[in-house]
Amino acid sequence: MNPTDTESSDMRAAARARIAGLSLEGLNPADPQWFVDDTAGYVFERLRREDPVHRSRSPVPGIDSYWSVTRYQDIMQVDTSHGIYSSEEGITLMDFPPGDEQKLPMFIAMDPPKHDAQRKAVNPIVAPANLNNWQGLIRERTGKVLDSLPRNETFNWVDLVSIELTTYMLATLFDFPLEDRRLLPYWSDMVTANKLTNPDAPDPEVRMAELRKMLGYFTRLWNERVNAPPRTDLISMLAHGPATRNMGPMEFMGNLALLIVGGNDTTRNSMTGGLLALHHHPQEMAKLRANPALIDSLVPEIIRWQTPLAYMRRTALADTQLAGKQIKKGDKLAMWYLSGNRDESAIPTPDRFIVDRERPRQHLSFGFGIHRCVGNRLAELQLKILWEELLRRFESIEVVGEPKRVRSSFVRGFSHLPVRIPG
Ligand code: HEM
Repeated sequence: MNPTDTESSDMRAAARARIAGLSLEGLNPADPQWFVDDTAGYVFERLRREDPVHRSRSPVPGIDSYWSVTRYQDIMQVDTSHGIYSSEEGITLMDFPPGDEQKLPMFIAMDPPKHDAQRKAVNPIVAPANLNNWQGLIRERTGKVLDSLPRNETFNWVDLVSIELTTYMLATLFDFPLEDRRLLPYWSDMVTANKLTNPDAPDPEVRMAELRKMLGYFTRLWNERVNAPPRTDLISMLAHGPATRNMGPMEFMGNLALLIVGGNDTTRNSMTGGLLALHHHPQEMAKLRANPALIDSLVPEIIRWQTPLAYMRRTALADTQLAGKQIKKGDKLAMWYLSGNRDESAIPTPDRFIVDRERPRQHLSFGFGIHRCVGNRLAELQLKILWEELLRRFESIEVVGEPKRVRSSFVRGFSHLPVRIPG
């Protein structure tokens, strides 16, 4: 069984043996190198078996000591117990000193009642009527992007397909000027940039300066919309929502950051991860070609397999017990969705990618409880339309080289996937 997408079986065996030889106490799943090499699956395989709620120490200042929750049922318990496990300290393991402006206020990092009130302001964006209205537009734009792809020539799937399509979608959600749409993934990268875990990331001052430009741009859109009748885009919803219309600038910046990253990295990396998974499982691609109706179960299987957000963090509000471990008030925990999604006590044959899986929606990729992803149906709709339009157009899409993965243990994704479409 192979919990990763690494191709060579020798490399897989070597990675598993190396991880088996490391001291359990020293295992730090948040080290981004596991994710660059795509070997995190072996770390989690070991932790689920030997120490499912595991205390680690990271050498990165600001992360330091944290618990890893690696089994499906324990993750569900933490995610659905917001009275014990709070989101207020943030959703990544990084802590900032009090008052540091880099820690942006946003409703994913809030507890009730404020979380619930702000979430309510944007929830209508995914109302069934809205989703229905968008179907035609998403299909038209998807078709245009796919028709413009080069033939018989290697190109980067991440850039020309995954980023392009998710950027169009984000621009639609915000009713953002289409000609400036590439600013959206640029700002999303700024939001998730972290110099402490990725030396190539911009300095914190540069990051904040770019995010202030983002705020300036969106404030202009807000000012246009706040005095107009309410509309069905996210900016108008925030400008008119009772719990959001009086937000200060930093809270506006934080919630923008949430909505941009929420709708960007996640769907984008599912678009790339899905193609890669089907490339590694040609028999599943054959099943899909023979029966395109399987797209309905393919889409949640891709989202489980990729798990675009590898974890969410919580902080204990009181002393408590979890799977026999004593958790102290103030301890931080990572709910490793990536690990829960490969837990065989909850998901049958989890290390196999199966396009006609029996219960494909049984996965943790969207989280559970009060913070469960707002955009889950929208993400599924985008992926469904993408695969319908891909199968209709191309008899084959060849992955012609190894992917490059992003240096992050939070966003599990790709910067490059070389692809060629014969034609
Ligand atoms: C495959 C795509 C996606 C994945 C895997 C994903 C994953 C997640 C996860 C894991 C959470 C936190 C759940 C928890 O803490 O229990 C979340 C929350 C959220 N997601 Fe998504 N997401 C995706 C697409 C989207 C899209 C397209 C949007 C649209 C804007 C979106 C907006 C949000 C928002 C606003 C939240 C915060 C919800 C809250 O705190 O109440 N997501 N998502």
